[in-house]
Amino acid sequence: MADARKIYVLNGPNLNMLGTREPEIYGYDTLDDIAERMEDAANRAHVEIDFRQSNHEGHLVDWLQEAHAEGAHAVIINPGAYTHTSIALHDAIKGISVPVIEIHLSNPHAREPFRHKSYVGMAAKGTIAGFGPMSYMLALEAALEL
Ligand code: DQA
Repeated sequence: MADARKIYVLNGPNLNMLGTREPEIYGYDTLDDIAERMEDAANRAHVEIDFRQSNHEGHLVDWLQEAHAEGAHAVIINPGAYTHTSIALHDAIKGISVPVIEIHLSNPHAREPFRHKSYVGMAAKGTIAGFGPMSYMLALEAALEL
């Protein structure tokens, strides 16, 4: 059934470790902290957020396809390191009609060269990166405007 007011927020590998994972890069907020903040903002905007995390590439592919099948309004995705490797995520995004917003806590372009290529960004509607947890909130604002 179409669910035009639902926004999927998908998180890839190692993002379950936020808070303790390289805090000098990713900060001290946990993924639960970010989810809570997004849910508050979504409630105020009268939209539903479906916030998920997986360390497995195929789960992210399945969830992108699910968002399409459910007629979701948008997908916000932080693909973690799959950003830089996953043709499967690229193809999944190309194959669905739901707009997908790529986000990152850090700015991958200001980091190691292997992070400069994004297979996800090449297929996404747009990318927001480098604002820490605020990247998620900015993406929600963008999704609401779509
Ligand atoms: C990240 C950036 C990626 O390069 C990295 O592999 C991550 C996190 C970010 O949010 O800054 O896992 O997606």
